Amino acid sequence: MTDQAPVAYTGPARVLSGVQPSGALHLGNYLGALVKFTRLQHEIDTFIFVADLHAITVWQDPAALAQQTREIAAAYIASGLDPDKATIFPQSAVREHAELSWIFNCVARLGWLDRMTQFKEKSGKHKERSSVGLYTYPVLQAADILVYKATHVPVGEDQKQHLELTRDIAGKFNHDFNAPGFFPIPDPLIQGPGARVMSLRDGSAKMSKSDPSDYSRINLTDTADDIAAKVKKARTDPEPLPETIEELATRAEADNLVGIFAALAGKTKAEVLAEYAGKGFGTFKPALAELAVESLAPVGERMRGLLGDPAVLDAILAKGAEKAREAAAPTLAEVKKLVGFWGA
Ligand code: TYM
Repeated sequence: MTDQAPVAYTGPARVLSGVQPSGALHLGNYLGALVKFTRLQHEIDTFIFVADLHAITVWQDPAALAQQTREIAAAYIASGLDPDKATIFPQSAVREHAELSWIFNCVARLGWLDRMTQFKEKSGKHKERSSVGLYTYPVLQAADILVYKATHVPVGEDQKQHLELTRDIAGKFNHDFNAPGFFPIPDPLIQGPGARVMSLRDGSAKMSKSDPSDYSRINLTDTADDIAAKVKKARTDPEPLPETIEELATRAEADNLVGIFAALAGKTKAEVLAEYAGKGFGTFKPALAELAVESLAPVGERMRGLLGDPAVLDAILAKGAEKAREAAAPTLAEVKKLVGFWGA
């Protein structure tokens, strides 16, 4: 082994990301991921998939899974992703993901996976009853990204550790197979006030589809009335909004609502505070409710429209899958050659 700096990847920039079809999408998914996809499609070649292989790491009803996949595709398009610009496809339709994932299973180290906090959270007290897939989940995620040689991965903050693992796998593969610069070391795109949206009932818990309280989250399919009611009921404190971001540090719920406002309005938290400092939640919440309804209600409306015509969604997914396969196949062929497989 030498200590030389890794050779830089020189291929074109490419965006890749995905969302699991394992339940209703919420404001956290929207701000942490979907709005970023929409923005990036205008700048960089963009691949966005529905992570159905990841979804089955926990039980999914086979009678519902295909429809859940259509729902995510509908959410992508409803939030602004253009199927003529971005490649939108189901992960399971491109077998190269699973094939590269196996090879990466032999590159990643057990010690690396043992450190993954999401597995610890999701497996809970009964680790031995979790699927093996839940444990190797981040390895498949690395394959998703690297089979397209993606350079930029827009995600929420909870995916940061998985992206670090992807970077480690890319670096080790390049090193072990003596292929400097073969895989890019992808950059996570996490920044911004929407990267970690918290529960509306508890500012210390992430907004999540698994929270038993529906009032903890705003779903993309919520009606305007639901959205306004949830913002109104959101937990807060009695103090007016402060002048500086530092003063929000000990006020998790206030900080979360300011962050949501900023992300929806395309502003920074400091800009929101400049407008609302000194005002109480009696003033701030109605403004936030109005902004949330204005931004999200049309997304839900468009989703319902798209889901009314599943054949159109299926055609988009089929065309996307074909384009994705064309992009993924050459990488896998090169990988097989590097690994030394017969016939490669
Ligand atoms: P998933 O389906 O759990 O979530 C989809 C995206 O939403 C983001 N997110 C949030 N962002 C801000 N605040 C929140 N409260 C919040 N909750 C969720 C997630 O960070 C994610 O970006 N492992 C991924 C799916 C995946 C993937 C990939 C992503 C599979 N392969 C390759 C990128 C690249 C996941 O479970 O996301």
